[in-house]
Amino acid sequence: MAESMKGLKRTHRCGELSAANIGETVTVMGWVQKQRNKGGLIFVDLRDRAGILQVIFEEKDCGGENFAKAERLRSEFVVAVVGKVSKREGAVNENLATGEIEIRAEQLRILSEAETPPFPIEADSKTKEELRLKYRYLDLRRPDLQRNLILRSKIATTIRAFLSEEGFLEIETPILNKSTPEGARDYLVPSRVHPGCFYALPQSPQIFKQLLMCSGYDRYFQIAKCFRDEDLRADRQPEFTQVDLEMSFVDVDDVIDATERMVAKVCEDAIGLKVQLPIKRMTWQEAMDRFGSDKPDTRFGMELTDVSETVKGCGFGVFSGALESGGSVRGINVKGQAEMPRKKIDALVEFAKGYGAKGLAYLSVMPDGSYKSSFTKFMTEEELKKLVTAMQGEPGDLLLFAADRLKIVYSVLGALRVEVAKQLGMIDEDRFDFLWVTEFPQFEWSDEEERYVAMHHPFTMPMEEDLELLMTDPGKVRAKAYDIVLNGMELGGGSVRIFQSDVQERMFEALGFTKEKAHEQFGFLLDAFKYGVPPHAGLAIGLDRFVMLLVKAESIREVIAFPKVKDASCLMSDAPGPVEPAQLEELALAVKE
Ligand code: AMO
Ligand code: AMP
Repeated sequence: MAESMKGLKRTHRCGELSAANIGETVTVMGWVQKQRNKGGLIFVDLRDRAGILQVIFEEKDCGGENFAKAERLRSEFVVAVVGKVSKREGAVNENLATGEIEIRAEQLRILSEAETPPFPIEADSKTKEELRLKYRYLDLRRPDLQRNLILRSKIATTIRAFLSEEGFLEIETPILNKSTPEGARDYLVPSRVHPGCFYALPQSPQIFKQLLMCSGYDRYFQIAKCFRDEDLRADRQPEFTQVDLEMSFVDVDDVIDATERMVAKVCEDAIGLKVQLPIKRMTWQEAMDRFGSDKPDTRFGMELTDVSETVKGCGFGVFSGALESGGSVRGINVKGQAEMPRKKIDALVEFAKGYGAKGLAYLSVMPDGSYKSSFTKFMTEEELKKLVTAMQGEPGDLLLFAADRLKIVYSVLGALRVEVAKQLGMIDEDRFDFLWVTEFPQFEWSDEEERYVAMHHPFTMPMEEDLELLMTDPGKVRAKAYDIVLNGMELGGGSVRIFQSDVQERMFEALGFTKEKAHEQFGFLLDAFKYGVPPHAGLAIGLDRFVMLLVKAESIREVIAFPKVKDASCLMSDAPGPVEPAQLEELALAVKE
C-alpha cells in the first residue's frame, strides 16, 4: 500500500547534501537505487536527479515499524526519508559527491512500489538502445541522460538570457503553416474545415522571421521546433530544435559576431570551455579544396592535394580519362601507413564507392623508397616520382587518389579523410574546433531535377559582385551564406536575405519557379516586401546537435527526451499509428490499400 507524503516536505535533493549539512535533520525523497540488508543495519542508496545518497536504517534510530518497511524496499521504490545527516562511518566513497556523509533514518514512507525494471537504472548502461527507447521513461532516470537533459535546459536558459540581453525578442511563430522551403519533405496535416487542403509543419520559421523583420521587430529569436521528413541519421531527427534568430539593418559580420559570442557564452557556462574569438573563417571554396567538405573537421590535417596537372596525359587511363572528361584527380597522404594490409585498403575502396567513387587508386611509398600501387604498371617511373613529389610523399606514406567529376572527388576524399583519421585514432577528442564556412555557392545543380536548386534557400542574397552572373552563369554565383561548423559537423547556418522584390523575383526565376508558383507559395512575403522592408539577415543553430557535441554523445537521441528511431517511429508510444475510419471520414481522406 502506498503511503502519502502528508505532513512531510522535501528539504533537499539527495545530491545536494554534503558535509556542510552534518547534524541537520533533513527530508529527502527519491528512488531506491539499491537496498542491502546487513542484519541489524539496512543500507539504501537513494537517488534523485541531483545524485545518490546513502541512507542507513537501524532499529534504535527509526523504530521497528520503519525498520520492517526498510526491509521490504526494492530497487525503484519511491520513498520519503526523514533523518539526520552524519559523517559516514564506513569508508568515504570518492565516487559520490555525497560520499562523505550518510543519513541516519528516523522515518520512512513508501510512496510508491515498483516492479523490477526491464534493465538496471545506472550510468553507462550496456542495454540495447531499442529496449531503452521502449521504456524511455526509465531510461531517462539514468544519470547520463539526466546530465544531458539538465545541461540542455541550462544551455537554453543561457541562450535566452544572452539574446535578451542583446536586444532580441522571443516571438513564437505558427506550427500549422503553408510549406516552407528548406529543401526537405514536409510533414502535412489535413484540414477538417477545408477538405483536400493541408497545413505543412514548419521546416523552419524562415518566412515568419523575415516577416517579423518587415514588421519592425528588429531582432527576433526563438527556440523553435522544426519538422523535416528526411532520412534519419545519428545527427538528424524528424523533429528537432533550432535556436533561430534574425536581425535587421545588418550584414554578414553582425550575424557572425552575435552568434559566435552566444556560442562562446554557452560553451563557457555549460562545460567551462573557452572559445577563442573571433572564430576562424574559411570560404566554401577553400574548405572544399583543402578538406573536400563544406563542414571540415579541422582537428587533424591530411588535406587534399590536387594532382590533376601532374598526372595530365599520363598512361593511367583512370586518371587521364577523368581529366579528359573535365574531371579532377586529387589525393590524400596517409602518413606512415604504406604497409596498411591489403584487406584494410580494400575496405577503404569499398567505403569510397559508398560515396560515389568508381574506385580508389593507391600508392605506397615503401620504407626502401620503392613504390607499390594499384597503377604502377600504367605509369612510368618518372611519372610516379612526379606524383609522389606532388603529394609530398615520403618513405612510409600511403597515397590515396580519386579521379572523377570534381563533385565526386570532393565527396569521396572528404569522407575518406575523416574515416581514415577515425580508424587511425588521429582525432583529438578533447578538442573543440569551431569554424565559419562562408561564401557558399548560391545554387547547386540537381541531377535529379535537372535544374539549379538553392544551396541554402531561395531568400539568400547573392554576393553583390556576383549579382550579374545570376542569369548568365548561375553556377558561379556566390551567396552571402555562412555555416558554423564544430568538429566536422554543421552546427548552424544562415544568410543575408534578399530584401528587394525584383531580386527575389529574379531568384525564383533562376530557380525555375514560374511567377504563378512563386506567388502561390510565397506571395505574402513578396507582397510584404512592397511595403518597406529593412535589410536583414539571420541564422539558425541546431540545438540538439550543439548539446550532443558539448556532451560528446554518439547520437542526437542522447540529448532529446523522447526521440524517434531511424524509421521515424517512437518505440515507446508506437507513433505514428492508424486512426479511426471516422476520423478519416471527417477529414475527407481515404487510405489507399
Ligand atoms: P538549416 O536548414 O541549415 O537552416 O538548419 C539550421 C540547423 O538546424 C539543424 N538541423 C537539424 N538538426 C537535427 N535534425 C535535423 N533533421 C536537422 N536539420 C537541420 C542543423 C542546421 O545547421 N532557416 C534556415 C536558417 C536561416 O537561414 O536563418 C535553416 O533552417 O544544425
Ligand atoms: P581498373 O583499371 O578499373 O582495375 O582500376 C585500376 C585501379 O584504379 C584500381 O585500384 C581502382 O580501384 C582504381 N580506380 C578505378 N576508378 C577510379 C577512379 N575513378 N578514381 C580513382 N581510382 C580509380
